[in-house]
Amino acid sequence: MRVLSGIQPTGNLHLGNYLGAIRNWVAMQDEMPAADTASAGKDADSRCFFFLADMHSITVHESREQRLANVRDMAAALVACGIDPDRSVLFNQARVPAHAELCWLLCGTARIGWMNRMTQFKDKAGKNRDSASVGLYVYPVLMAADVLLYQATHVPVGEDQKQHLELTRDIAIKFNTDFGVELFTLPDPIIPRQTARIMSLRDGTAKMSKSDPSDMSRINLTDDTDTIVQKVRKAKTDPEPLPGEAAGLAGRPEAQNLVGIYATLANSTPDAVCAQFAGQGFGAFKPALGDLLAETLAPIRTRFLALRDDHAALDALLDKGAQQAAAAAEPTLRAAYDAIGLMR
Ligand code: TRP
Repeated sequence: MRVLSGIQPTGNLHLGNYLGAIRNWVAMQDEMPAADTASAGKDADSRCFFFLADMHSITVHESREQRLANVRDMAAALVACGIDPDRSVLFNQARVPAHAELCWLLCGTARIGWMNRMTQFKDKAGKNRDSASVGLYVYPVLMAADVLLYQATHVPVGEDQKQHLELTRDIAIKFNTDFGVELFTLPDPIIPRQTARIMSLRDGTAKMSKSDPSDMSRINLTDDTDTIVQKVRKAKTDPEPLPGEAAGLAGRPEAQNLVGIYATLANSTPDAVCAQFAGQGFGAFKPALGDLLAETLAPIRTRFLALRDDHAALDALLDKGAQQAAAAAEPTLRAAYDAIGLMR
């Protein structure tokens, strides 16, 4: 089992980032067999690889300073949330040139017709497709390279990345067939069954977002306990009490969001949370949610704030991760050049 996933480094990290991808990564890491030095070689095979997709981030306009800060922030957040650089390989893509190299090789295999079907490109490019960057178009090929370089078997991603994983499999099959090799492993997406969609605290129909002008709409990883409790207290709700089961939340997006957050944090289900608070109003539920959030996020905040500004520590950590990643990627990259007949 070889787990691999990437995340685009964004700034202003919030609860949505944590409960969306990061928490799933930590769970997958923690399920891996504990490292045992006696069989280090074998353990290296079943390690998790987590990386910051900073090479993908060139498809988004950002200043140089912001881009650098985003990678540091996201790396610090991952560690603060529980990614252990001694157990998992944590790195940023730009430090491992094999990603860009394999991407180019796979550009010879991926077909324009396949790329034209990518719905995320269509969404992101919008109406004016001619002015979208070529990078945005090739984005899924770089993602295929990310996955195939490490012979990943399991790739935890959100529902929106499923099509990119299918493309990755198509590219792997075509490369293997065209060059008569059994080089690339076909990866399976791991899509969390019940993805908690974390919505804005001000509008239950909009995703919690770093770019919402109202800071009250989100819980930031940097928020202290008082701020968290206050944001939850002021969160938009409705006057109805909580129903006995989750089905009763239909048509109540704000209530649904708060129950969903509680359930995710408590490793429970919306049905169980409703059963627990059935008949009570938000006057009772909000303090419970605020406490649970504050309690969960306090240790994360402390670690995050300390590490975020420790550039030397972050640099050392990412450097070690990049060396491990480059070593793991090397045999596959070499075999890909060789299969094509390129002298390297
Ligand atoms: N495209 C992914 C996203 O936006 C991030 C990503 C890049 C990724 N490369 C990857 C995810 C490889 C999984 C595997 O969420």
